[in-house]
This record gives sequence, C-alpha cells and structure tokens, in this order.
Amino acid sequence: MTYIPGLKGVIATETHLSSVDGEIGELIIASYPLEEIAPRATFEEMAYLLWHHSLPSQSSLNAFTESIQKHRTLPNATIVLLREAASQNVSVIDALRMATATLSLTSTNDDASDAQTLIATLPTIVATYWRLINNQEPIAPNPNLNHAANYLYMLTGKNPNPAQTRAITTYLNTITDHGMNASTFTARVITSTRSDLISAIVGAIGALKGPLHGGAPGPVLQMLQEIHSAENAEPYMRAKLEKGERLMGFGHAIYKVRDPRADVLYDALESLFADNSDRDFYTFAQHVEKTAITLLEEFKPGRRLQTNVEFYTALLLHSLGLHPDLFTPTFAMGRAVGWIAHSLEQRALDRIIRPESVYTGHKNGQWIPVEKREPLLT
Ligand code: ACO
Repeated sequence: MTYIPGLKGVIATETHLSSVDGEIGELIIASYPLEEIAPRATFEEMAYLLWHHSLPSQSSLNAFTESIQKHRTLPNATIVLLREAASQNVSVIDALRMATATLSLTSTNDDASDAQTLIATLPTIVATYWRLINNQEPIAPNPNLNHAANYLYMLTGKNPNPAQTRAITTYLNTITDHGMNASTFTARVITSTRSDLISAIVGAIGALKGPLHGGAPGPVLQMLQEIHSAENAEPYMRAKLEKGERLMGFGHAIYKVRDPRADVLYDALESLFADNSDRDFYTFAQHVEKTAITLLEEFKPGRRLQTNVEFYTALLLHSLGLHPDLFTPTFAMGRAVGWIAHSLEQRALDRIIRPESVYTGHKNGQWIPVEKREPLLT
C-alpha cells in the first residue's frame, strides 16, 4: 500500500452526482453540463435533480417547493442560540454550524424530512443571524418568494428584482456540487458510519469553513478594493508576484483552463448589469482579471493559471449587496444540496469509509510512574 498525502488522485467512490474535468474545463452536474443547467433551473429544481436524479415534472416541482417552504421557520431554540452567538460576536459561519446542529431538536431522523429541513432553514439561519449581529430584528420568511429570492428578502427586507433573483439562483446552482471536495468527503465519511444527515451537514460546514476550501472569495474582494483603480492594477499585482505572493481568484488545483463556474457567473453578472448604468466596478474587475492573466503567464509561464470560481463569486455576491462575511455561509447554502445528495448516495452504498495509516512512531515504550518522569522542556 502506498501513502498518498492528501489522498490526491485517490478515487474514493463512484458517483452519479457530478464530474469535474480540469483539462477541458468541464463540470457535469447529474448529467447536465453546468452552463446548460445552472442559468436556467430554479434552486428547487436543482435540489430535486441532485436528490432524485431527474428534473421534476411541474406537479412534482410544485409539491417539492411547497414542502421545502413549510420548513423555513426556525425552532425557538435555534433563535435563542443565534441571539446568544450574536451577543458574543461569533462569526457567521460558526453561528451557521452551531445553529444547524440545533435542528436535531425537531428531527425525526428521517433523511427525506431532514434534507428538506436543512435546505429550507440554512438561509433563515444565515439571514436571521446577519440581522441580529447588525442590531436588526430578524425578518420572517416570505412564502410568496422562491428559495433564492427569499434569502435576499430575509437579509434586507426588500423584494429582489428578477435579475437579482436570477443572479443569486445561478450562483447557488453553480456551486451545488463539485466532485469529491473536502466538505463533500466529510459528509460522506460521517454518513458512512450510519450517522444522521444533520450530523453530516454540520461536519461539512466545519470542513468548508477553512481558508483552503470555502474561505477564498472574501480575500478576492479585499484585493479588488486594495487595487482600487484600473491604473493601479498592473503595479499592484506585479509587486505581489515579485514578492512571491498569490493573486486571489486565480489558479486551481484541478482546472488548468478557465474554471467553467467562472464562465457561468460571468454571464450571470452580465445579465445583472444589463439594465444597470453603474457598471464601473464590474468593468474595473474585468480589467483586473485581464491584467492578472497576462502577469501570471509572465511570472509563472506554462503553469496555466486562469480565473477560478472565487473571482466572479466575489463580484456577484458583492454586486448583490452581500457583505464578505456572508460569502462562505452563502456558499454553504448552495453546497448543502450536494452534501445531502452525496450523503444519500453513501447511505445507499452502506459501506463505512475507513482508510489506513502508516505508523511512524516507536514501538518499545516502557511505563514510567508519573513521579519519575522528566519534565518536558517547553
Ligand atoms: N497567484 C500566483 N501564483 C500562483 C497562483 C496565484 N493565484 N496559483 C498558483 N500559483 C503558482 C504557485 O506559486 C506555483 O508556482 P511554482 O511552480 O513556481 O512553485 C505554481 O503556480 C503552481 O501552483 P500550485 O501550488 O501547484 O497550484 P495548486 O494547484 O496546488 O494550487 C490554488 C491551487 C491553491 C487554488 C492556488 O492556485 C492558489 O493559491 N490560488 C489563489 C487562491 C484562490 O484563488 N483560491 C480559490 C481556489 S478555487 C476553490 O478552491 C473553490
């Protein structure tokens, strides 16, 4: 047996859910190319597709949507916890993880019901918490709005326009699933022990939170804000590269061509700005992108460093008025559909995930009574 650090290249499972080809920039979600499905489906259709392996008929979609809507309201205990977390200024992603765990209070340990509760309540948790830490009273879910529009409504109290609703929906659809990423693997490992769905999603949120996984779009926005003006783009990024630093929103462990998710989000932004005269930030960001690609080819020739999903995620969520602290929690809301789909797939497989390790320690330890042990040097 060979030790492969980070399990890179190790195939951990078979899946019907998504396929990522980094050489040709292809992402297939449940048999649909990303660019075919993400800009067209509602989020509810996307969830149905990933959980049932086919798009719903109109009547199935209506029933599914209605059923999810009914689960949007939070249990009292969840709100109590969020108020306590807000009083201690806990980060939004930590509050989301802790509050998600409280959903066990009303769970019947039935996967289908837990799946709907999780998807329906994650936006309510995030929006409720966001308002609490900003000293505003939470806004109740609006049953007349679909899942994505209701999220923006609960954050701001304003009904989003159709272009904004389409943009947030396309974003959430785009990030629903992406092969065997760290948080998805976490969800599968937890489910593989026959544990429950809520535990799997709580664990996955914990895995997503790390800066090597779901934490990148915040720094992209920070970089754009530091660059501030088009003429500063070239000198700012050149200086970073000369110091050996990385440009946020570029490069990817798997994609060696432009990330297909960046293309879909780029198009979503185009539509968002179609009837908007204030395109300045968008045009500026496009200039930064073009400059970055040129500089990366100059400083890292042949490494094929291209725009990744986080660059346009930052732009899109910022354009929708979301604060960077909401970027990773919003990512979690979309990816939760994939986490649940993988957990259901793992449940059907019913096989514990249990890799091996290579012991590198000694084997000849001899017991020494505590009073005779040497103090450790610190
Ligand atoms: N800016 C400058 N140089 C870079 C960048 C970048 N964004 N990305 C990679 N490089 C360089 C590396 O320094 C390395 O140089 P070297 O060969 O001279 O040592 C070379 O390109 C290859 O880089 P790797 O580290 O092998 O690339 P890897 O595939 O492991 O890393 C990663 C991918 C972590 C995403 C990297 O590109 C990066 O740090 N990007 C910036 C952060 C970012 O945008 N993260 C979001 C990624 S998308 C997502 O996770 C959903």
